[in-house]
Amino acid sequence: MEALEAITRRYGVLCYKSKPVDRELITKILQAAAAAPSPANTQPWEFIVVDQPDLARSVAEYLVDTQAKYVFGQLLQTPEPFIEHLLTLYNEFYNAPCFIVLCRHQRTTLKDSDYSSIVRDWDLCSLGAAMANLMTAATELGLGTRWFGNPMMNPEPLMDMLNLPGRVEIIAVTPLGHHEETPKDRPNQSIQVHREFQTGDKYKLAALLKGKLSLKNVVHFNAWQHGSGA
Ligand SMILES: Cc1cc2nc3c(=O)[nH]c(=O)nc-3n(C[C@H](O)[C@H](O)[C@H](O)COP(=O)(O)O)c2cc1C
Repeated sequence: MEALEAITRRYGVLCYKSKPVDRELITKILQAAAAAPSPANTQPWEFIVVDQPDLARSVAEYLVDTQAKYVFGQLLQTPEPFIEHLLTLYNEFYNAPCFIVLCRHQRTTLKDSDYSSIVRDWDLCSLGAAMANLMTAATELGLGTRWFGNPMMNPEPLMDMLNLPGRVEIIAVTPLGHHEETPKDRPNQSIQVHREFQTGDKYKLAALLKGKLSLKNVVHFNAWQHGSGA
């Protein structure tokens, strides 16, 4: 599979098989992740690989609990019956045999400059690039991933579980595993769905999750083309 194809075929996989992932494949995928750009080549990342079955199960449970309480509950204020419905999507998530925990680790003294918040933003951009490479490489090798940002809302239990030192910051976690689902259809989403979600129609979450905005809504040639309101 070519990189371009892997990029467009990638989607957030929730249903996994328990079949273990070879360490050799994991290494290849992490080589792709660590090839990402970073400002002044600072490489502000650490990758914690969790492939011990009991520990992987604990990470899966932690992610789903955090999703229910912090994302669906506190952030999106989703009504309880709908949370129950959304959680059924994660039924086969507990099979995931491996997780990669992506952490920010500042290796330079840039943190002491006046621009420390910009440096943090740059680090997050670099970690995003690393995660994108990781997900593309995994797709190319036939493995599923899904970016979980929810650990940033509730990092302590995972920090404890993995014995992480306080100087590293958990930015994202992805499962890594074999899966049966075929890539989802990517219907174009309407801007309307985003507006309704933004203005408080929480049930629009399901529609929001379905597809991607059409390029005409997000691409501008040479100048902003939406007018001032959009
Ligand atoms: C920064 C970031 C944080 C995310 N956090 C979560 C999360 O906490 N839980 C989850 O189930 N999915 C999470 N996702 C996955 C998105 O929901 C998913 O990428 C999105 O619905 C688009 O679907 P796709 O990945 O299939 O293209 C996150 C994605 C990103 C980029």
